Amino acid sequence: MSVTDAENSLKTVLKRFYFQDYVVNGKDFFTSLEEESAVTTSTSRNKSRNLKIKIKEVLHPCYGLYVWPSAPVLAQYVWYNREMLTGKVVLEVGAGVALPGIVAAKVGAEVFLSDTEFLPQCLEHVSENISLNNLDSSKITIIAITWGFFSSQLLSLKPVDVILGSDCFYDTKDFEDILVTVVFLLKQNPIAQFWCAYQERSSDWTIEHLLTKWSLSCEEVPLANFDADSAEIGGSTMPGCHTVHLLVIKLKEL
Ligand SMILES: C[S@@+](CC[C@H](N)C(=O)[O-])C[C@H]1O[C@@H](n2cnc3c(N)ncnc32)[C@H](O)[C@@H]1O
Repeated sequence: MSVTDAENSLKTVLKRFYFQDYVVNGKDFFTSLEEESAVTTSTSRNKSRNLKIKIKEVLHPCYGLYVWPSAPVLAQYVWYNREMLTGKVVLEVGAGVALPGIVAAKVGAEVFLSDTEFLPQCLEHVSENISLNNLDSSKITIIAITWGFFSSQLLSLKPVDVILGSDCFYDTKDFEDILVTVVFLLKQNPIAQFWCAYQERSSDWTIEHLLTKWSLSCEEVPLANFDADSAEIGGSTMPGCHTVHLLVIKLKEL
């Protein structure tokens, strides 16, 4: 069996995520969805207030082929702030399977999904997830951006309004490269924001000194503000007992 055959035979899993505006009478999400479909039209909620996303994962030792616990948290933040994104340009960095970016595309943003050029299988895999979610291909583009590298694709990108990053800060050697790329993009559009879900893995790790060095401000958004303070988000139990922070990073006003 060749390496390609071996990769082709890897197990895949289809995951479903559901986003909605609120929890109904404290009932679990699936019960409330079932009840919703049983009520009459006059009393049912606007269906456009629910969003279903399918994500294919591949059981492969490559970080970008799985949904990480930060992704449902950031996706839910995108969903709750969708009015801000309609007609805006959004770039997801280190997208992997791109759950937050796909939500942004679904709510009307023009979206660029990026991952490193050194892991082309991630870039190929994300195009399958775009197809699975019936997205308008004129509004979603896959590009290669490697943190800290000024490739022609990065340099020719149009100014973005929002940068998304889910679980990018997982290896301290990359922390400054990520912020260098983000600062470059924020300088193209100084009112742009970086929405970032950060999973706490070690109490020794911090980006504080880098935020100061690169003149960035950072506000932590309490998870309760967008109903992400539970072990289950978007119908997924993945956030579980992981500690994930939602950060909004901007250029510091001079
Ligand atoms: C922990 S995974 C997170 C994936 C996805 N954002 C999520 O939360 O499910 C880290 C992602 O960063 C990407 N990555 C790793 N090194 C990178 C680099 N130097 N430049 C850009 N992306 C990188 C990986 O390919 C992977 O998709």
